[in-house]
Amino acid sequence: MENPTPASTKSPVALGAHDIHKSFGNLEVLSGVSLEACRGDVVALIGSSGSGKSTFLRCLNLLEVPDKGDIRVGDVRIDFKSGPRARRVVSDRRQAEALRRRTSMVFQSFNLWHHMTVLENIIEAPIHVHGQTRRQAIEKARELLDKVGLSQREDYYPSQLSGGQQQRAAIARALAVDPDVILCDEPTSALDPELVGEVLKVMAQLAAEGRTMIVVTHEMAFARDVASHAVFLHKGKIEEEGHPSRLFSNPSSERLEQFLSPFRNGGFGEPSGGRGHPISPRAVVS
Ligand SMILES: Nc1ncnc2c1ncn2[C@@H]1O[C@H](COP(=O)(O)OP(=O)(O)OP(=O)(O)O)[C@@H](O)[C@H]1O
Ligand SMILES: [Mg+2]
Repeated sequence: MENPTPASTKSPVALGAHDIHKSFGNLEVLSGVSLEACRGDVVALIGSSGSGKSTFLRCLNLLEVPDKGDIRVGDVRIDFKSGPRARRVVSDRRQAEALRRRTSMVFQSFNLWHHMTVLENIIEAPIHVHGQTRRQAIEKARELLDKVGLSQREDYYPSQLSGGQQQRAAIARALAVDPDVILCDEPTSALDPELVGEVLKVMAQLAAEGRTMIVVTHEMAFARDVASHAVFLHKGKIEEEGHPSRLFSNPSSERLEQFLSPFRNGGFGEPSGGRGHPISPRAVVS
């Protein structure tokens, strides 16, 4: 990483992974990936399809258990041991619970509960996992719905919302447990192009508030303009990483150069055109 922040001024690490390896059968998908997200960092994970981005994100919150490597969330280090059929498992369930309590995931396909209204979706985990009272949870949920521009939609079911509205509701749900780190896996790629911008604006707003986020994205304008650190994964390894302004304007790796070339040739979403979306942390419409 270029221009490392002096250790004395660096924020504490919110989520760290060291030398993560993961295979599915004979296919090695991650071959030693390390990443540290300090408080307030917005890390963009980019790379072509199949490079291992989702697998890495899933390892970070133990939806997949890495075959090798360490994970730590704040001051909690996750310990692993050998389980049945020589598979690696988490040694102490409480560590895994701590990690899950401190992280929230936003998925490409929203994953809202369809039999619940927007408000019910948002208050479910705060009440049942985090022990909040219904009243506290509702009060916070309404604040969050206002933040994501959905105040008028709390009694709607997911099927009554547009994709962009569903994803903003999913972001409000992720925020409701007050996570230390939000993990997003291509939060806009299931959306119609005209709905992408409203979700990216909410995410840019969260970044501007200092939320720690790790975001897998194909939205290069978002990665360039909003992220504080960008990581290019190629075939399960970090090929290049650094500050987005440098990475996007002057990549050192030929593979990154190739990956970025369609975007660098006018496709970032500048007024001149392209498939990207201009980003600014403005209020969104419902
Ligand atoms: N549960 C699984 N079982 C077997 N193979 C898997 C599994 N999950 C992922 N893979 C394989 O691992 C490789 C990396 O997948 P991954 O989903 O991490 O890629 P990605 O970078 O997120 O790609 P995309 O941009 O298309 O989402 C792919 O070849 C995929 O088929
Ligand atoms: Mg993926």
